[in-house]
Amino acid sequence: MIKFVNISKWYQDNTIKALDNINIEINRGELVFLTGASGSGKTTFLQLIYRGIYPTAGEIYVENQEITELPDRKVPMIRKKIGVVFQDFKLLYKKTVFENVAYIMKIMNEKKSMINLKTENILKEVGLWYKKDYLPHTLSAGEQQRLSIARALVNNPPIILADEPTGNLDFDNALNVMELFKKLHYKAATIIIVTHNLELPKLFNGRHIKLIDGSIVYDSIKDNTNTKQE
Ligand SMILES: Nc1ncnc2c1ncn2[C@@H]1O[C@H](COP(=O)(O)OP(=O)(O)OP(=O)(O)O)[C@@H](O)[C@H]1O
Ligand SMILES: [Mg+2]
Repeated sequence: MIKFVNISKWYQDNTIKALDNINIEINRGELVFLTGASGSGKTTFLQLIYRGIYPTAGEIYVENQEITELPDRKVPMIRKKIGVVFQDFKLLYKKTVFENVAYIMKIMNEKKSMINLKTENILKEVGLWYKKDYLPHTLSAGEQQRLSIARALVNNPPIILADEPTGNLDFDNALNVMELFKKLHYKAATIIIVTHNLELPKLFNGRHIKLIDGSIVYDSIKDNTNTKQE
C-alpha cells in the first residue's frame, strides 16, 4: 500500500536532515500512529506520501506506483485517494464552513445533490453543522481542526494522513474524532496519524512507529516488547 525504500530527506541545500534512510511498509487497512519529538520528521514523512515534497534519495510506492517519478499530470490521481488533515489546517478562509467541505467535490464535478448530502453528513459527524454558514476565522482552533478533518474525510479516501488531528481538541472532542477515524479504519482505510499522545496506539490498537532525528527507532509490529518506548 505505502512503501518507503531507502528514503532520506534533507532541506536547505542538504544542510538540514529531516529523514535518514527510512525503510518501511504499511499495508492496506493498517491504523498507524507516528510519534516523535518536534522536528523528528513526522510532517516530512506524511508530505512525502502525497508528493507534497520530493525525497532527496530513495523511492516511495503508493498502491504499487512509484510516486517520485510520477509525471505532474498524474499526481491528482494519487491525491484523490489521499485525505490529508494538515497540521496548519489549510482552510479556505474566504469560504464558509459548508463551502470549505464542498469545494473539492465541486472541482471534481460531483452532482450538487450528492455534494450537499455528503457535506451535511460529515459536518454533522464532526459537530459543525450548526456552523455551516460561518467563516473559518470565526471558529475556535478546535472547530477549525474539526473542519479540516471533515474536508479530508468527506470523500471516504482509502488513505488518510492526519497531522496531529486532535492537538487542539479537548478530551471529548478528541475521542469523537478518534471514533471517526476508527469507523473509517473498519471500512478498510489505511490511516496514518501523527500524535504526541503515546496512549493512542494502545487505546485504539494501532501500529506504533516512533521517529527520533529522522530515524525509525521503534516499530510495534517488529518489536512488541515496548522496551524502547519512553
Ligand atoms: N521547508 C523546510 N525547510 C527547511 N527545513 C525544514 C522544512 N520543513 C522541515 N524542516 C526541518 O526538518 C526537520 C523535520 O521537520 P518536520 O516538520 O518533519 O518535523 P515534525 O516531526 O513534524 O515536528 P513537529 O512535531 O514540530 O510538527 C526539522 O529539523 C525541521 O526544522
Ligand atoms: Mg509536524
